[in-house]
Amino acid sequence: MRGTHFSHPLVQRFLAVAQADAAGASAALRLPLQHVGQGDLATRCGMGTLAAGTVQAGDAVRVLPAGVQTRVQTVQVAGDTVTVTLADDVALQPGAMLVAAEAPPEVADQFAARLLWRSERAMTPGRQYLMQMACQEVTATITDIKYREDGCNGIQIPAKVLAQDETAFVNLATSTPVVFEPYEVNQVLGGFVLLDKQTHELVGVGRIEFALRRASNVHWQALEVNKAARAAHKQQRPRCIWFTGLSGSGKSTIANLLEKRLHAEGRHTYLLDGDNVRHGLNRDLGFTEADRVENIRRVAEVARLMVDAGLVVLVSFISPFRSERRMARELFAEGEFVEVFVDTPLEECERRDVKGLYAKARQGALKNFTGIDSPYEAPQAPEVHVRTTHLSPAEAAEEVLQRLERR
Ligand code: ADX
Repeated sequence: MRGTHFSHPLVQRFLAVAQADAAGASAALRLPLQHVGQGDLATRCGMGTLAAGTVQAGDAVRVLPAGVQTRVQTVQVAGDTVTVTLADDVALQPGAMLVAAEAPPEVADQFAARLLWRSERAMTPGRQYLMQMACQEVTATITDIKYREDGCNGIQIPAKVLAQDETAFVNLATSTPVVFEPYEVNQVLGGFVLLDKQTHELVGVGRIEFALRRASNVHWQALEVNKAARAAHKQQRPRCIWFTGLSGSGKSTIANLLEKRLHAEGRHTYLLDGDNVRHGLNRDLGFTEADRVENIRRVAEVARLMVDAGLVVLVSFISPFRSERRMARELFAEGEFVEVFVDTPLEECERRDVKGLYAKARQGALKNFTGIDSPYEAPQAPEVHVRTTHLSPAEAAEEVLQRLERR
């Protein structure tokens, strides 16, 4: 791992802990491929830096994570860079790894890891980050903070979020399986960085301790009756129509009207509303940043299941953070997710104050209230932008409807 970020003393101390044991690292071949060849050899020629072991023409190797076995045909070395051509066409991808056929490392998608948080913005479980490890790049989520470690005396402290420069023992999950070895065995295969998905700024540095579950033990059940079949039955195109906006902006009013219109046209719909879902599935959640992230993660997953079931799902949640709205969007196929920004100025929401919550928030009787002492990040490119100061709820519903028909 390179870069100026790693010269920071905290990072160096964090990464150095296991080095004493690294001498016993496995000597079997580990060659993460940074580039794959071009032209005729594209699918069987790769280039990278050795993370362990050696490689020679004739060696039996396995290509991970695919698992295909082949032999090395030629090897060229230039400085640190090793270029290998394989005997078979194995559809090499950047991020793949060549490993000793008889001693492959593990492949997994859930891990226990130690994490040093480097961003000023707190780490919140459930939020998605970009993870880079040995030429591999995947989406990763911290699923759980087991405990935070007190820097001075190693005391374990329970924690819901991680602030800058705190370290913790965490569980994390990756979007696709990755090839790894525990950091103590191999620092290249077990050391990772987390980046902000939007800005690509480095936010965390981590060390894999062990896999929680081997990817090879988890299989998606391939189901015969699929989304297309279910949608065809209903003669409709499944969608997730995601309303976001301040409390009192009119999301639910518009979503309600839209659902009535869709229903009248014979569509099979369902409306997930923040206030309602918070009485059931999400009744254990409050309004801290961490709880809102989890609130949106759960409702997005539910909406995805409903779209998979063939429904037109309307979701009406404040959903104040861009990061989680993007996460929700990424759960759906192209064109399936329609973000509707119900844009009502804060002053107007506050003037209406249908539930009397703004008054309470202003008096300080309600903490973390969106728009008052908790942020709302307005969408930058929603599919539909409804300015409620110019449109009635019925006109707004009509605009969304037209957008749905156009696509
Ligand atoms: S979200 O931010 O996590 O998406 P959600 O849409 O589920 O919020 O819930 C918002 C509703 O909860 C509001 O319409 C309001 O009625 C109620 N509420 C209670 N406390 C708060 C708060 N601190 N901030 C925002 N809404 C709150």
